[in-house]
Amino acid sequence: MPADRADPPPVLVGQSSRIRQILQLIQKLGRSRSPVLILGETGTGKEVVARAIHAAGPPGPFVPIDCSALVGPLIESELFGHVRGAFTGASGSKPGLVEMANGGTALFDEIGELGPEVQAKLLRLIQEKEFRPVGSLERRKADFRVIAATNRDLAQEVEKGTFRRDLYYRLNVVVLRIPPLRERKEDLRGLVDHFLGRYGNRHVLTHECLDAMLSYDWPGNVRELENCIQRMVAINSGPLLHTADLPSALQNALEARRPAHLTAAAAAGHGTAAQPYIQMPLFSLTEMEKDAIIRALEYTRGDRAMAAQLLGIGRTTLYRKLKEYRLAN
Ligand SMILES: Nc1ncnc2c1ncn2[C@@H]1O[C@H](COP(=O)(O)OP(=O)(O)OP(=O)(O)O)[C@@H](O)[C@H]1O
Ligand SMILES: [Mg+2]
Repeated sequence: MPADRADPPPVLVGQSSRIRQILQLIQKLGRSRSPVLILGETGTGKEVVARAIHAAGPPGPFVPIDCSALVGPLIESELFGHVRGAFTGASGSKPGLVEMANGGTALFDEIGELGPEVQAKLLRLIQEKEFRPVGSLERRKADFRVIAATNRDLAQEVEKGTFRRDLYYRLNVVVLRIPPLRERKEDLRGLVDHFLGRYGNRHVLTHECLDAMLSYDWPGNVRELENCIQRMVAINSGPLLHTADLPSALQNALEARRPAHLTAAAAAGHGTAAQPYIQMPLFSLTEMEKDAIIRALEYTRGDRAMAAQLLGIGRTTLYRKLKEYRLAN
């Protein structure tokens, strides 16, 4: 469905230097009409970036075109539309995706999936800025900005001969690479807050939970993180999200990181997987309590009410302990 300025502007969360660079570039690209090629693994935010570029430019429709779905005999009519009677079953005329994008932006999503025949059609369309609906003699104008996105290595596809070199050069004018989430963990906290704000109801993550997330690889990138938060909020009624609520992929990663000697000790009957800390240096309860309070306040950035909630104690108790440990100013 074409989207225009009535849609809320897309939010691109991130404070890593790469995302900050991308945010600046988006503003510049909004003012130009040159093609943009967005590269990045699945779930890194290619569509969000494409929408943001469009939103930074003049008003007009935004039409995502899923190239992986452009297969079969109806491709041409999908793209260029058809006139009445163009083929059996064409009882009326129908505009194609290209026409809907006129005056706006077309996002050719998953462009690496395009077959050779459609690649040729797309090249002609981009070069001539004109097209002919199926069954029509008349050529129509198609003036839109081209953004292409893929998680494939297009340069490599060109070398292999599966992607046309001439089309590649047409698209490869401005290239925007979005790094995977594992290479910009600085963005994780902001993204977590963003998704908690969207899906949660004053939910907060425990320190351990955030730690587990920070050391996880996120093969599904930001989409996997979004699903993870959404799921944790859905299954947990309380405001605190614990490691036990994490999806199994993260649980497994957490388990695999557990020091080997603890697992061995557990196997030898000196402890269980659930109580591995028996092997760790012992601290007094007071020290542990003080440490927990400090970490809770760090985590909530000084919000005492939330820290008390995290620690599972009343607010007055927290105030008393802060005084007791000389942590209050
Ligand atoms: N930086 C970000 N800030 C906020 N939300 C983001 C960000 N990056 C991705 N998302 C969210 O993550 C999800 C996946 O993003 P998007 O669909 O843009 O990824 P993609 O790169 O197009 O993935 P795919 O290759 O699988 O199509 C979306 O719900 C999007 O809103
Ligand atoms: Mg996408």
